[in-house]
Amino acid sequence: MKKVIAFAGKGGVGKTTSLALFLKYILEKDSNEILVIDSDPDANVADVIGKEISFNQTLASKMTELKEKIQNRKLPLDMPKNQIIEGDVFRSLIEMDNFDLLEMGRQEGSGCYCFINSVLKNVLDTLSKNYDITLLDSPAGLEHFSRKTGRDVSDLIIVADPSKMGIHTMKRIVELTKEVSLQFENIWIIGNRFPDNLKEALEKEVESLEKDNVKMLGFIPNDEKISEFNFLGQNLIELPDDNTSYQEAKQIFQKIL
Ligand SMILES: Nc1ncnc2c1ncn2[C@@H]1O[C@H](COP(=O)(O)OP(=O)(O)OP(=O)(O)O)[C@@H](O)[C@H]1O
Ligand SMILES: [Mg+2]
Repeated sequence: MKKVIAFAGKGGVGKTTSLALFLKYILEKDSNEILVIDSDPDANVADVIGKEISFNQTLASKMTELKEKIQNRKLPLDMPKNQIIEGDVFRSLIEMDNFDLLEMGRQEGSGCYCFINSVLKNVLDTLSKNYDITLLDSPAGLEHFSRKTGRDVSDLIIVADPSKMGIHTMKRIVELTKEVSLQFENIWIIGNRFPDNLKEALEKEVESLEKDNVKMLGFIPNDEKISEFNFLGQNLIELPDDNTSYQEAKQIFQKIL
């Protein structure tokens, strides 16, 4: 079954780290066709997998060219604009060893971030059809997801850290999914870097949400090696297999796939 899994949560809680650990897990598990979409303008995913991405490899660069073509009236008249954009999105896919990466990148000028977000929203369905698993690193809001049905994302993973704001954002995202009637099959909560004495409190918070499809996925412990890899710009996928945090992460990821 095709899965589109999005990672959300407050800034800095560990969304990209969790995504990278999940990516490591699915890469080792089966031979799947995998797409990773990095919608962070600062190329967060590329950073944690130790990859340098230049601006011209990003979708933002293609969209800048497209805008110039529109302004200079250099677009083919016989082709619908959304078809041109779709082509640009497919041309922006970066082939990694065993998965594809789409870097959204940062577009210059006001209102451009919204524009590139709406491009992603419109092509997510078409794009993810070509892959078994699509992982999406999203900013805190849910602006990527289609408001028609929410069908385009199967699993939403909300990462929370042991802070009031981390929990507050987690709840706000769950509320938002109700308001915009986004229907995810599952909403999973990951507690990242929780000390033992606060784990039960998070579990209680999740229970109190009283929403059937919101479930506690589990905890990823704070880990020196993860900090070290991040600090040195090393590829998190190459974290040693016997690393305790990765072992624990693997255990909880089995609930999803
Ligand atoms: N379990 C962990 N153990 C040790 N360090 C961690 C862990 N999880 C995250 N970190 C560190 O915390 C920092 C923030 O993590 P990360 O970049 O994954 O967060 P984020 O939610 O993606 O942030 P942003 O909102 O800026 O995209 C990084 O330096 C990362 O290495
Ligand atoms: Mg990030």
